[in-house]
Amino acid sequence: MPDTRPLVITSDGELLDDLLRLAAVSGTDVDVVPDAGAARGLWRSARVVLLGSDAAGGMRTRPPRRRGVVLVGHDLDDGSVWELGVHVGAEHVAVLPDAEAWLIDILSAAGDRRLEPAPIIAVIGGRGGAGATTVAVALAVAGVRAGRATMLLDADPLGGGIDLALGGEGASGLRWGAFDSVQGRIASAAMTGALPSIDGLTVLTWERGDTGATSIPAQATEAALDAGRRGHDIVVADLPRSLDLGAQLIAEQAALVLVVVPAELRAAAAAANVCNQLRGCPDVRLVVRGPSPGGLDGWLIADALGLPLAATLRAESGLAAAYERGEVPGARARSPLAQFASRTIDEVTAVTRRSVA
Ligand SMILES: Nc1ncnc2c1ncn2[C@@H]1O[C@H](COP(=O)(O)OP(=O)(O)OP(=O)(O)O)[C@@H](O)[C@H]1O
Ligand SMILES: [Mg+2]
Repeated sequence: MPDTRPLVITSDGELLDDLLRLAAVSGTDVDVVPDAGAARGLWRSARVVLLGSDAAGGMRTRPPRRRGVVLVGHDLDDGSVWELGVHVGAEHVAVLPDAEAWLIDILSAAGDRRLEPAPIIAVIGGRGGAGATTVAVALAVAGVRAGRATMLLDADPLGGGIDLALGGEGASGLRWGAFDSVQGRIASAAMTGALPSIDGLTVLTWERGDTGATSIPAQATEAALDAGRRGHDIVVADLPRSLDLGAQLIAEQAALVLVVVPAELRAAAAAANVCNQLRGCPDVRLVVRGPSPGGLDGWLIADALGLPLAATLRAESGLAAAYERGEVPGARARSPLAQFASRTIDEVTAVTRRSVA
């Protein structure tokens, strides 16, 4: 990602202190230069320019026109800031301290990777032990392999922690419990930096043990999801089979929901109930996985459930043992699971290639 950090131009110590404090609150790193002459290429590349009234006043010539210039002053009674704003072609004039909350929002948004929220692929099991987490992990790994900033969001509080499936249970960083009382917007860059990163994948999962949270308010899920979507190119969510409010919210926003069903009669029957919860989702498809002890094929199950078939995956015989060894499913790019995951990532990200990075 090129350096598009917000640019602060001022040599007014008091104003600089204020702006650095607001940047810290918003969780956004900024570049600081004392005057426009020192800004050089940053004037064009920065996502937002916060131009101090002192620096604007010292400009002899009009700077090149660009969007996202905010003239910042700290004296409401000084009418000249408005004239200066016009002179430098500022999009906004902000006077502190009144404009603090607005500036925090601007700084926080400037730290986002994307202007548009990233697409979500959600995965849910048609029955217990269907292979949903395995598919979610393979998708996330495929996202990283494709060079996309990828977040794996574990929305199943009773799944035992998806970090285990990634062999990354020792990775440090925040877990869901830390988000319990969150309300409103989370700065995406700050959240990404605070979450565990496992082989290039940002992971939001649950704590294990006595102190681990097993549910969090839907508004906290929403805030974390929103920040994840602003800070990544793709979000993969592992859903619980029974959707709580937070998981429902994720499913409804997902560009694609994959229902994983073993090729067995009873699994297909259970999946019908799971699918009933997904009526509000725009695109729900089926992944049928082997073995098929009774010879049921994917098309038959898809037909019975009234869903399009995304893939039939053969049983990977070594998978259970590989998990025990700490190997990551879908890590071998040639396996059918990995190939399906790569195709799906390509399809979903191709529709929304709006990353500003
Ligand atoms: N493609 C596959 N081929 C063979 N075995 C598989 C496959 N996918 C999953 N399994 C087996 O099923 C087990 C459960 O897989 P997984 O944890 O992905 O399912 P799940 O649907 O997420 O389960 P849960 O209901 O616990 O959330 C794995 O440990 C593995 O042994
Ligand atoms: Mg699971």
